[in-house]
Amino acid sequence: MNLVNKTQEGLLSDPTPFVEYLTLELKQDKYEVKTISAILNEFSKISKSIGQKDTTAIMQITIGFSSKGWSSLFPNKPMPEELHPFIELRSEDRHFPSTPGDIFIMVKSMRMDLNYQAAKYILSTFKPIANAIQDIQGYKYLDDRDFIDFVDGTENPKSIERSEAVIIDYGPYLGGSYLIVQQYFDKQEKWDSLTTEYQEGVIGRTKMDDIEIAENKKKPYAHNVKSKVEIDGVEIKMLRQNRPFGNAMEHGTMFIGFAKAASVIETSLKQMIESGEKGHHDKLLDFVTAKTGTLYFIPPQKFLDEMSV
Ligand code: HEM
Repeated sequence: MNLVNKTQEGLLSDPTPFVEYLTLELKQDKYEVKTISAILNEFSKISKSIGQKDTTAIMQITIGFSSKGWSSLFPNKPMPEELHPFIELRSEDRHFPSTPGDIFIMVKSMRMDLNYQAAKYILSTFKPIANAIQDIQGYKYLDDRDFIDFVDGTENPKSIERSEAVIIDYGPYLGGSYLIVQQYFDKQEKWDSLTTEYQEGVIGRTKMDDIEIAENKKKPYAHNVKSKVEIDGVEIKMLRQNRPFGNAMEHGTMFIGFAKAASVIETSLKQMIESGEKGHHDKLLDFVTAKTGTLYFIPPQKFLDEMSV
């Protein structure tokens, strides 16, 4: 079955040079179906109308809903199986907070100015029912590096492996996906005070050439050891569309992780924050701080089409 044409198109594509992430909060707990349908219909036209100003910008807009957003907007549609409030995690001085967000919209394209225009129209389209609580502009830094200066995204699954990792392949929401969003701020000075060799131990890859460190030489606290999810020795992939955000004073990484089961990303987070049997948490967490955390469901394109009239 071709699942690719059942998804929202921004789900499977690589991160673009510019991205805008909007988080919206609903004003009420209940709306009339016709109000929601009219707004979704208006929303569905935005990427086309702004995108046609420059088709080489390849604008793609992806929308997702948290469990609270879903029950307010679509009370008559069954709640997707794994959609629930983001599970807050704490271990020693490390914390993954659970923060508000009913609707999440990701605007990707080659142009920051067009993303801005689209974001502006999206916010005014949703204004009757929701307020923006966060608007973050991310961008490509050098060769897809975060501001900790390591290439991010290398081990992402490609082609068929990607769609198999990300797209729900059964049931009423076939073509959908789950997304966890976390905004991380860098402790840049602390990070910069480390030697390159130590930083490479923290990430589990070389800095300059982005080569994976051999398994028998990897530190047990390496990010790529602690974040990797395996069941019975088989690796279960997710797709990360992370982008750095901010300026020289204050910056970090938007973690944007998609998977066909929310539990894959939740397991990864738990492994990272907890010391586990071997007594090591993910050392990257000593150099970044998570400020937000929300779980969303990315409905299949067909669901959005049917809901918008
Ligand atoms: C500040 C936040 C983060 C930064 C800067 C960051 C950065 C990186 C970098 C540089 C890599 C190595 C290159 C690559 O394969 O992409 C990586 C790999 C990875 N990250 Fe993160 N990451 C962050 C948060 C997270 C979170 C929250 C998760 C999971 C919930 C995660 C999951 C992964 C996974 C699964 C890999 C691939 C591991 C492998 O198979 O080698 N990352 N990350």
